[in-house]
Amino acid sequence: MICETPPMGWNSWNTFGREINEKMIKEMADAMVDTGLLDCGYNYLVIDDCWAERQRDADGKLVPDRQKFPNGMKAVADYVHQKGLKFGIYSCAGMITCAGYPASFEHEFVDAQTFAQWGIDFLKYDYCFKPGSVSGDVLYKRMGAALANCGRDILFSACSCGKDETKKWIKTTGANMWRSTEDIYDTWTSLRELAMLADQSIKYSGKNCFFDMDMLIVGMYGNGNVGLTGCTDTEYKTHFSLWALLGSPLMIGCDIRNMNDATKKILMNKDVIAINQDKAYNQPYSVAEPLSFSDDYKNEWPIYVKLLENGDFAIGMFNFTDDPTNMYCCNLKLDLLGLSESTGKTLLLTDLWNGEQTKVKNGLHIVEIAPHDCRLYRAKVVDR
Ligand code: GLA
Repeated sequence: MICETPPMGWNSWNTFGREINEKMIKEMADAMVDTGLLDCGYNYLVIDDCWAERQRDADGKLVPDRQKFPNGMKAVADYVHQKGLKFGIYSCAGMITCAGYPASFEHEFVDAQTFAQWGIDFLKYDYCFKPGSVSGDVLYKRMGAALANCGRDILFSACSCGKDETKKWIKTTGANMWRSTEDIYDTWTSLRELAMLADQSIKYSGKNCFFDMDMLIVGMYGNGNVGLTGCTDTEYKTHFSLWALLGSPLMIGCDIRNMNDATKKILMNKDVIAINQDKAYNQPYSVAEPLSFSDDYKNEWPIYVKLLENGDFAIGMFNFTDDPTNMYCCNLKLDLLGLSESTGKTLLLTDLWNGEQTKVKNGLHIVEIAPHDCRLYRAKVVDR
């Protein structure tokens, strides 16, 4: 399975946790199509943990929970496929899954075969209850080999939460994406924490093996399994902008049957999605100056830049500080993007959230950004 751009879709965990069933999953499939999410590129519908019976059958195969999925998984897969979507499921490299259900350790090939028979297109593969006797890379290599030999294209989504230096070995396993951090929660603190860690993983992300900053909390407003306090729309916009710009997979986690307008506007901003899905997948880089503060502060105002396939730049400027009086003055120096004065070129910035255009003068773009807010631009190279 070759994956050219970061996967996009919806996953049951953030909102539903254990409360999953066939009816709800079918409603989600309907919603992905009816809301226009599929048209925006969100094409994977993924069932997370807690879908299985506690015991394997007499042949050692996984069995879908008979109450939650009375017609089995193939029936759900057929429904999802007939909607034009792809269907994902969850297992774990350890003895049991994170929520205590049977996992794939020492059953890798039989499980991959079962998933292929059901019509699965995506496997999220967790790392809980890992046996001490086998190293993480070998566990993921086992499932990578099993999937590559199961006779069906199944996207391999590794979820070892960055543990055991995942980034150093994950590309050897056949994984198409890999979780770089612990779980996200629907709070600003959680968002901020994951955002601050991104810098460490960017250079280990690339085509066919994307680093995954975890599923989106946009539109949850404190509801559901990882709900907690919830965030503001500005914070959700900042979250989506950063995930999109850095090339993380975009897996929605809110209840898409009841999205409000603000949530739709964020998740379905096609210009922002285009930045995420840019075919070149050039590595984003940071051009934030440490200012006059200590080094500890520099990542709270990251500026990330990515050169796009058509020669434009994607530029995100963020204020992750908390003090409401701190209207950070963000300085973007074009020199650091390769657009020195000697080139005779500058940038025409288009703000992807409000459409405003600005031509950069004298090689410097200065903008005030309130705490928790951001600017995300697509910038065209033009004459000075
Ligand atoms: C781990 C993963 C989550 C989710 C749960 C399910 O915590 O990181 O994304 O899949 O397991 O139990």
